Amino acid sequence: MRIHVADHPLIAHKLTVLRDAGTDSPTFRLLTDELVTLLAYEATRHVRTEPVTVTTPVAEAEGIKLAAPKPLVVPILRAGLGMLEGMVRLLPTAEVGFLGMVRDENTLKASTYAQRIPEDLSGRQCYVLDPMLATGGTLADSVRFLVERGADHITAVCLLAAPEGLRFLERELAELESEGVPVTIVTAAVDDHLNEHGFIVPGLGDAGDRLYG
Ligand code: PRP
Repeated sequence: MRIHVADHPLIAHKLTVLRDAGTDSPTFRLLTDELVTLLAYEATRHVRTEPVTVTTPVAEAEGIKLAAPKPLVVPILRAGLGMLEGMVRLLPTAEVGFLGMVRDENTLKASTYAQRIPEDLSGRQCYVLDPMLATGGTLADSVRFLVERGADHITAVCLLAAPEGLRFLERELAELESEGVPVTIVTAAVDDHLNEHGFIVPGLGDAGDRLYG
């Protein structure tokens, strides 16, 4: 599993404002959207392409276009929905599928309550959107769900990750790597630790609540 921590002053600046408990919901939503577009630039570095030739006003030019089948973007409801527009701004032709998952506040175990994902994802690249990677349970289940349907290349875009969750995913998803399914996590920051309630510290609180109240 590859972990890419996006190191850029604009990303760090926007994340700092997101963390601030005094930032209101409209500003939080706007900054999330902007931050995701910056992260999406990194996350799509290995998007599959194919060569194409275009005719400029002067001559023919060799270029590239996104390869078929088109990538699938999967926001994890609810909080991941706040990341969707920022992602599809860079990948406007991507298909979008939805996974509804919630984490039990006591056991911290994730469960799936809704899904609208194509049955056959053979050969598809998938981009999973979820602002918080805490214990990693939600992301591990999401990745397995997509791989069971045939996805063969997964990139997760997160605003924040906890070291405990990243270590858990390294262990849980190790077998996917050996089966030839690369998994990459792109995040704006890796924070210090998880507290006893499963919240990222210092974190930014509950992203779902801050986005949607
Ligand atoms: C939060 C967050 C992630 C998950 C992370 O969602 O958005 O989906 O918890 O936790 P984990 O890494 O420990 O699994 P939540 O369950 O609060 O649902 P919401 O998005 O509807 O608020």
